[in-house]
Amino acid sequence: MDNRPIGVFDSGVGGLTVVKQVIKALPKEDIIYFGDTARVPYGSKSRDTVTKFSSQIIRFLLSKDVKAVIIACNTVSSNCFEALTAEFSLPIIEVVTPGVESCVETTKNKIVGIIGTEATIKSGAYERKIKERDKSIEVYSKACPLFVPLAEEGWIDNDIAILTAKTYLRELVEKNIDSIILGCTHYPLLKKCIGRVIGDNVKIVDPAYAAAVKMKQCLKKNDMLGENSGKVEFFVSDNTEKFDFVCGFVLKKECVAEKIEIEKF
Ligand code: DGL
Repeated sequence: MDNRPIGVFDSGVGGLTVVKQVIKALPKEDIIYFGDTARVPYGSKSRDTVTKFSSQIIRFLLSKDVKAVIIACNTVSSNCFEALTAEFSLPIIEVVTPGVESCVETTKNKIVGIIGTEATIKSGAYERKIKERDKSIEVYSKACPLFVPLAEEGWIDNDIAILTAKTYLRELVEKNIDSIILGCTHYPLLKKCIGRVIGDNVKIVDPAYAAAVKMKQCLKKNDMLGENSGKVEFFVSDNTEKFDFVCGFVLKKECVAEKIEIEKF
């Protein structure tokens, strides 16, 4: 047994979609969440920059005595996982592999779409991991960078969100995909809007729950499961108001984040 909290981080509010699933899969774990709201978006930045940011965040989470970390960000998972696991010795779970495993199980016609940030799509991580499991799956990828500021703003189902989704997703729908991976943790916030645009025939794969289950398996294997009240604490690197609002909407409870100086770590 290990009653220390789990650390979860993202560039902003996106990782809250993962927190929601961690609460479901691991209700007795305490969570420390960090959203890098001062430096979002990560998806248009270089690998070196995002790796530096992520190292600072993990050092911050370690200062809160976390026992393990979930990288609730596809950009970091697909670009920096190796560097982070080389630097830190605690268990670290990423979100790309769970998404790939769910998608390979879901697709029937073996034509799938991936949407993510520019950095995630450019890394080719999803495509590579899918092909490793089944070479015959056709993969079509599309970067959808504007979904991130829309989610941060809480504009998840208005006319602008719908028009943006139509513009990004049209070409994937034309490829006859039967499944689409939400390869950015901000995108589940726009799930309703994305669903309306791609139609009922396309299954939406959100890696978040599978990632939470991976963390559960990892803690169990290492005899590190906790017996806590399931307390969640939120930290951000910039103003808290907008974060608190979206956080309350996602987790359906009052959330009050604390601002910290992430550059110090
Ligand atoms: N939510 C993150 C991801 O899953 C990052 C989005 C961004 O900051 O560009 O990739």
